[in-house]
Amino acid sequence: MELTAAQQAMLEGEQGRAVCKAMEILVALGTIYGARRMVPVRSVQIAGVSYENLGEAGLQFLDEMALGGGRTRVLTTLNPAGMDVENWQALGISAEFARQQQRVIDAFARMGVVTTCTCTPYFSGNLPRFGEHIAWAESSAVCFANSVIGARTNREGGPSALAAALTGVTPEYGYHLDHNRRPGVRIEVRGWEQVLSSAQANEWQAAQAFGALGAAIGRRLEAVAAAQGHAPVPYILGISHATLDQLKAFCASLATFGGAALFHMAGITPEAAVCDPPEAAIEVGPADIRQAAAALGAPSDEIDPVDFYSLGCPHLSIGEVAHLAHLLNGKRVNGEFWVTTSRPVKQIADRMGYTEIIEASGARFAADTCCVVAPIKGRFHRLATDSAKACYYAGAKNRFQTVFLPFDQVVALATRT
Ligand code: F3S
Repeated sequence: MELTAAQQAMLEGEQGRAVCKAMEILVALGTIYGARRMVPVRSVQIAGVSYENLGEAGLQFLDEMALGGGRTRVLTTLNPAGMDVENWQALGISAEFARQQQRVIDAFARMGVVTTCTCTPYFSGNLPRFGEHIAWAESSAVCFANSVIGARTNREGGPSALAAALTGVTPEYGYHLDHNRRPGVRIEVRGWEQVLSSAQANEWQAAQAFGALGAAIGRRLEAVAAAQGHAPVPYILGISHATLDQLKAFCASLATFGGAALFHMAGITPEAAVCDPPEAAIEVGPADIRQAAAALGAPSDEIDPVDFYSLGCPHLSIGEVAHLAHLLNGKRVNGEFWVTTSRPVKQIADRMGYTEIIEASGARFAADTCCVVAPIKGRFHRLATDSAKACYYAGAKNRFQTVFLPFDQVVALATRT
C-alpha cells in the first residue's frame, strides 16, 4: 500500500504504541483486500462492546490501546453494551458483570470514544453526509449509513473500527469505491401495498413488515451469493414509501439475513437515482414475505406463553417511544418488558413524561443495551418482538423461542389480562 509520510510515521511508532498497532491492523487489512491507499474518515462507530462478547482478552486489548496513548482523531461512538449503565440491577444483571462491563466502557472513554452505547448513532449526533467516508461497525447501522444516507463504509470489526478512530483513516477498498457500490441483482417486490393493507399496518406496525421483507430478500440474496461466490448489491423496486424507522428495521433485517451492507431502493435511497438496475430480476411477493414472517416465530398460545417482550432492535427512535407511551398509558404488562433505546432518546422520553407512563405499566427501559447483547441466555423462555433481527439472535444466541408480531400487537399481547 502507498502510505503518506504521516501514515508511515504512525506505522513506525512515532506516535506511540497504540497508533502503531492501529496502523498495523489497517495496513494488514488493506493488503488482504488489495487497497492502494488509505482514505480519511469523518466518523467511526465501534461495535463489540458487550463484555459477554469481548471477554478478558478483549478488555486487555482495549486497556493496552488506552495505556499506549490511543486517542480518537474523529467523532467515534459506541454500540450497545451488555447492560443499562444506570439501571443494570433492575434488569437482573450481576454485579460482577456490571463491574467488568464498566471497565470496558471506561477504557473506550479514556481513548475519547463518545460512549453513546447505541446501534442508531445517526439519531444521536453521529450522522454522516452523502458520499463521506466513514468506518462503522454494527451491521444494521452500516447498511443504514451506506444505503439510506449514501455514506461509504465497509462492515468493520471492533478492532478495525477502533484502529480507524485512532488514526483517522481506513483502507480504501470495498464500499469506499464506486464500482463496488453498483447494483448486481434486481429485486422486484410484488404486491407490497397488499402486504401492508392485509396487515392493517399503521406507520409503526409496518416496520415489522419491512423486517419480514428484509428477511425474505436476504434469504434470496444468500442463495445468489452462494451461486455466484460473492454477495451482489441489490437494487430493489416496488416500494413507494418508507419512513426512517421502517428503513431502520429493513436494514437490520437485510443485514442479518442477507449479509447486505448496501442496497439501493428505487425512489427511496439516494444512489438508486444514479445507477441502472440490472436486467434479470428476482421476484419477491406476498407469499414470500408471509413465509419469512412465519419462519421468524410461531403464534403465541396459552400452553406456551410469552414471558419476555422487547421493542427496540435497532434502538427505538423518540417517535417510537412516544407511540409506545400512547399504547401503554393506563395499562399493565404481564411479563418482563424491555424498551431498548439510546440514553439520549431515554432522556428526551424522561422530559416528555413518556418514561413515567411506560414505567407505570411495569415495562422497563433498557437504555445502552438490548435483548441480544445483554447476558440473558436461558433466562426467558419465549420472546415477543417486532424485530426480525432480534428473533434471529434470540434463537441463535439466547435459545429463546420467538413470537414475531407488529409493534402494536406486541403491546396488545403484553397487556392482555
Ligand atoms: Fe441494535 Fe442490539 Fe438489535 S445492537 S440492532 S438492538 S441486536
